[in-house]
Amino acid sequence: MNRSKIAGIGFNVPDNIVTNHDLEEMMDTSDEWIQTRSGIKERRWVQAGMANSDMALPACIKAIEAAGITANDIDAIIVGTVTPDYNFPGIGPILQQKLEITKHIPAYDISAACSAFIYLLEMGDQFIQSGKYQNILLVGSDVMSCIIDKSPEGRATGVLFGDGAGAVVLQAATGESCILSTHLYADGKGMEHLNAKAPGSMFYPDRINADIIAERHHFPHQNGREVFKNAVTRMPESVDVAMKHNNWSLDDVTLVIAHQANYRILETCAKRMGISMDKMYINIQKYGNTTAATIPIAMCEALAEGKFSKGDNIILTAFGGGYTWASAAIRW
Ligand code: UT7
Repeated sequence: MNRSKIAGIGFNVPDNIVTNHDLEEMMDTSDEWIQTRSGIKERRWVQAGMANSDMALPACIKAIEAAGITANDIDAIIVGTVTPDYNFPGIGPILQQKLEITKHIPAYDISAACSAFIYLLEMGDQFIQSGKYQNILLVGSDVMSCIIDKSPEGRATGVLFGDGAGAVVLQAATGESCILSTHLYADGKGMEHLNAKAPGSMFYPDRINADIIAERHHFPHQNGREVFKNAVTRMPESVDVAMKHNNWSLDDVTLVIAHQANYRILETCAKRMGISMDKMYINIQKYGNTTAATIPIAMCEALAEGKFSKGDNIILTAFGGGYTWASAAIRW
């Protein structure tokens, strides 16, 4: 079997830091509430003039350079995002152009919210395994600051999200380093608990109009407790599947990198999985929930901090809108 490996990885976040104290000014919230309930201290928000593709571009360039290839060696670009530059096209083709890729490669987006990066990984892995492509650029990137409600009515979700991008180049594995398994799941019943409904064809004949906006359908809504309950069940379940699939015990795993939605979720997951917090990578305090980008950003930072290195086994897990959830086992 042609296994795939992550040959290069990179991330980018906007320079603009928005602290909990900054949010106190806009949302009738407090640093104390945000830190106690979520562990978040600050997040990054883009400033006017930076679209999702602009933010993602440096992450892509870093991943391509780290893989030791050029942009024109990329055979396909797949992006996971819920906040593209435009309704269409997706940012895949826009990144193809910004990377100055002259070949007519496939470039497209998928929508799998916070689980998108692991969904991308499975897709890329399958394309490499089949021999269809040699170098695939996978990008998880979201500008959540452009869809959240920044008023006091939006505080329950608005304080949680941030902007960021992460990218990897997937290539055929030549040695021990490889993607060992991916497991993806969805349950559409979760739609009612976590969504941003507009613009959408559900509102036919308009996708968005003043009434839809007045009803606040264009903002993300979540039933926080319900989402929390499901996240702390599904992520440990999916990690367990990854471990059983690879015949691993907890001792075989160097690090679990879980979607960064809430520190308390990560803590509860660790307890349920029976692992200590030093095996759970945490950077939510700095970036908040960057949706499709949390996992590649966390992988970059964990790697730079020496939390894992060549030959180590790591597990990724995510849970989010859909509901969707997923895990991946990787030998670095
Ligand atoms: O990426 C995947 C998707 N998202 C998640 O995984 C998030 C899952 N859920 C959560 O992380 C948590 O449920 C939240 C952080 C969203 C909320 O924490 P909670 O402990 O479930 O709080 P709550 O929603 O039950 O709200 C508790 C109180 C409420 O006041 P009352 O009704 O008790 O008087 C809220 O109105 O906190 C109030 N509240 C706030 N207060 C200050 C809600 N948001 C805020 C806020 N600042 N930002």
